[in-house]
Amino acid sequence: MPAARPAEAAGGSGAVSSAERAATDVGLEILRSGGSAADAAVAVALALAVVHPQAGNLGGGGFAVVKSGDEISALDFRETAPGAASHDMFLGADRQPVPDASLVGGLAAGVPGSPAGLFALQHRHGLLAWSRVVEPAVRLARDGFTVTQRLHDAIEDEKDLLARFPESAAVWLPGGEPPAPGRLVRLPDLAATLADYAARGPEAIVTGRVAAEVESAARSHGGLIRAADLSAYRPVWREPLRFRAFGWEIASMPLPSSGGFILAQSLGMLERLHWAERPRASVDRAHLLAEVWRRAYADRFLLGEPARMATDVSRLLDPDWIAERAEGIDPARATPSSAVRPYPGVAPREAAATTHLSVVDGAGRLVSLTTTLNGWFGCGVYVVGAGFLLNNEMDDFVTAPGRPNMFGLVQGEANSVAPGARMLSSMSPTIAWRGDTSIALGSRVGSRIPTSTMQVLLNLIVDRDPLQEAVDRPRIHHQWLPDQIAVEPGALDERARAALRERGHTIREVEGPIGEICIVRRLPGGALEAAADGRGPGAAGRTGQ
Ligand code: DON
Repeated sequence: MPAARPAEAAGGSGAVSSAERAATDVGLEILRSGGSAADAAVAVALALAVVHPQAGNLGGGGFAVVKSGDEISALDFRETAPGAASHDMFLGADRQPVPDASLVGGLAAGVPGSPAGLFALQHRHGLLAWSRVVEPAVRLARDGFTVTQRLHDAIEDEKDLLARFPESAAVWLPGGEPPAPGRLVRLPDLAATLADYAARGPEAIVTGRVAAEVESAARSHGGLIRAADLSAYRPVWREPLRFRAFGWEIASMPLPSSGGFILAQSLGMLERLHWAERPRASVDRAHLLAEVWRRAYADRFLLGEPARMATDVSRLLDPDWIAERAEGIDPARATPSSAVRPYPGVAPREAAATTHLSVVDGAGRLVSLTTTLNGWFGCGVYVVGAGFLLNNEMDDFVTAPGRPNMFGLVQGEANSVAPGARMLSSMSPTIAWRGDTSIALGSRVGSRIPTSTMQVLLNLIVDRDPLQEAVDRPRIHHQWLPDQIAVEPGALDERARAALRERGHTIREVEGPIGEICIVRRLPGGALEAAADGRGPGAAGRTGQ
């Protein structure tokens, strides 16, 4: 696709929601200086690579959905398996999975997509000079930023991981402990990498000294990434997954993310089941949510890169198939997941570090961007000299037949490891609009991303909640396997839980949040709103506030 620069200036206004106050402030600074939503989104993502290193990254990847007038685009900067990766690379000589190999250390890392991906996003949709967009991140890394409680706690939680890699411990566990909240941290190696990136774009990272350092860090911790993998990596502009639901237009991420697919299938089923007409917070609504997700996540088993799938994804999104699935739902009884198979004709073979940001600018352009290292601090390997951590995204592939990934997702052969392949994701950067109202939203927390994103969307487009309320309302989750409704405290009262058990559901109160949403909205007349999830310390803001 040609690199079209949006003509209309944003007029210095906009709204941003991200996981950290310092990053949201960078986005607002870029909007005030005339940047577009894409300029601000990229600047926020790079600021997160500094101040939110457990998830923000140069060593990971992600997805973005962009709306610029009538042009809707989707950018895939997902990591790829290194060229030397192979189908059974996570199995030992005994054909058993090697514990933790897809999660910790060099073998767990995919080839980073962020350096080329963020550049591609700004190149196509930005208004400012590239160096201007990178500059705030350089400043934060060079001059220092304040350690937040969230960063401190994340390091504390992942102390064992970071301590296994002396290079990572030297930066993130100085003196053996996480830096205290409020302390100023400077990251000179990262500042130098970012300064070069500001001057030269992705070449500064995917070739030359930094690429050699990535290879050396990977090699010394048993990894397969080579400098040639970095320079061969290409982000891909894809047709967004577009559909209508409850009178709204929705654009979300297509494969290799399952996020848009799960939203499209399950919202389609809900519409056919007249979900919106049932009372708010009713047992019927919770039951139907669990049943549609159970079916959508069962079909997720078949997903992978389109060329590697046995079933054409368009068949899985065919209205007839969605209707057939909806008709199979018993309004009064849970269907056991063991009785819900993926799409007919295909027998299944035998058998939390992400961050989302949303930006809207004064011209109404929206960016919804989710980026990840997979687990907090990725595989734990820090690239000395380059100043960033490598992801552990290889765990999103099927690492052994029938073996659930770290989010409990059971996946199929189309998502097995292959050289250069992109691993299936659940990230769901989404944009929805109707008339003059438009919304950009997304979430973190792995398999719970599509279901949390969908519930907030429903709160807004069906139940018309105020923005913050829509985000904060307690949520539930079902992902086919394990066969249970995960509930947040307060999501369903005791009577509702008992009624759902009566219908055959298993209810389990979850550890950790069901998603952490960052959202912006533009209202008719041009008023802008932003909200960050009450479940986390994220920060929303508007210019002029
Ligand atoms: O792409 C995926 O679906 C996962 N790698 C996302 C990981 C995640 O959300 C961790 N969250 N906090």
